[in-house]
Amino acid sequence: MLAVAILAAGKGTRMNSSLPKVLHELAGISLLDRVLASCRELKPERTLLILGHQSEKIKKNFNQATDLSFVLQEPQNGTGHAIQQLLPVLHDFEGELLVLNGDVPLLESATIKSLLNKHRSNKVGVTFLSAHMNDPTGYGRVFADKKGNVEAIIEDQDCTKDQLLNTLTNSGIYCFNWKELSEILPTLSNNNRQKEIYLTDAIEKFSSGMHMEVNDSVQVAGINDRIQLAQCECLLQGRLRNHWMQLGVSFIDPESCTLSERCQLNRDIVILPNTHIQGKTVIGENCVIGPGSLIKDSRIGSNVKVTYSVIDNANVMDNSEVGPFSHLRPQSSISKSCKIGNFVEVKKSTVGEGSKINHLSYIGDAQLGKKVNIGAGTITANYDGTRKHRTVIGDNTKTGANSVLIAPIQIGSNATLGAGSTLSQNVPSNSLSLERSDQIIKEDYIPK
Ligand code: UD1
Ligand code: CA
Repeated sequence: MLAVAILAAGKGTRMNSSLPKVLHELAGISLLDRVLASCRELKPERTLLILGHQSEKIKKNFNQATDLSFVLQEPQNGTGHAIQQLLPVLHDFEGELLVLNGDVPLLESATIKSLLNKHRSNKVGVTFLSAHMNDPTGYGRVFADKKGNVEAIIEDQDCTKDQLLNTLTNSGIYCFNWKELSEILPTLSNNNRQKEIYLTDAIEKFSSGMHMEVNDSVQVAGINDRIQLAQCECLLQGRLRNHWMQLGVSFIDPESCTLSERCQLNRDIVILPNTHIQGKTVIGENCVIGPGSLIKDSRIGSNVKVTYSVIDNANVMDNSEVGPFSHLRPQSSISKSCKIGNFVEVKKSTVGEGSKINHLSYIGDAQLGKKVNIGAGTITANYDGTRKHRTVIGDNTKTGANSVLIAPIQIGSNATLGAGSTLSQNVPSNSLSLERSDQIIKEDYIPK
């Protein structure tokens, strides 16, 4: 039987943040979600999330997770104290306890599996992951013989000068024989520089303990501050870009672009500098995205061109063009072969195939038919101060420059609206509508 405990109760003081550390994100996925994903692949019998500092904020994110149970650690007196909280919860449990750290997000499940295998085949009390770090500052140091038998782990703050020279570090990822650990846990003390109960002090009390060195030290890198968070982000972004480049996506200036791990790209996309693809965005083949664009949780078809634009929770279908300087807001859907141009904002609207909104417009809560031409500066006045209203425009209709359509309003197809008109009444199909005062001309006029 396998139980997994994830340590996530700590204050995360070094992050200096009002957001709990484990909810900070790397490539769009929180540290804790990453750890959970790697442990779910092991199909453990129990998964216990140890929470304390800002536990309610963290719990809210995992309301739907039925395979998780929460264990409260209050106050937070160290990693050993955190695991002591499992004594009543796992009192009749027999098997291994795998301990993962909520702030070690890049660990791969294959590595955890080999840790488990090694632990089982060696039949020892504890096996944990270690790594040689170029800069071991902050990590507990592992003291072991050549065969991997461990004498002790000593925390950075408690090491002597000589001990600090040891670059073999503790990853905080352990596989314990639960029965033996449960007898050791009550004997741990807080006799150390930080006055905390360290889980690492348990190691030397086991009948036998081994470490397993991970060569790819990145996998066991812990995030304690924003510098480490940024270093991991940088590394992940590099990996993500390489992954998509191998699958046929071009980046003109890769390091200026960021991707979410949840995005899906296709062949022959060209991503121009300073472009950011976030959330669950999907982009089809042959698109040119950027420069200077932000696309979040959106679906983009094939052969779409997006220049200096922001697209959020929207759909853009094949062969359309967006930008420069367009803003597509949530629930907007742009059909095939449309053109959304300079300084145009579209919100919660559908735009029919072949329609054009080329300049300086706001289209909100609207439904546009096919081949509609929205003149420069056309505004849908959708808000009366309390409620939002809809605008419907039929196929082939042309709105004049600077027209204001006061919603609710229905405009038929093949209609023409005169420039500068403010329209508040429905417009029938095949008509011309004008709302404009006569032009006054005074000849031979000399200003006073
Ligand atoms: C810990 C290890 C250190 C190891 C490093 C690897 C101990 C004493 N030290 O140090 O040997 O090299 O991880 O990254 O274990 N937590 C709780 N309750 C607490 C305190 C912490 O749940 O009372 C959680 C934190 O939320 C965090 C994890 O335990 O997810 C590690 O705590 P942290 O304070 O970051 O330990 P480190 O100093 O990094
Ligand atoms: Ca840590």
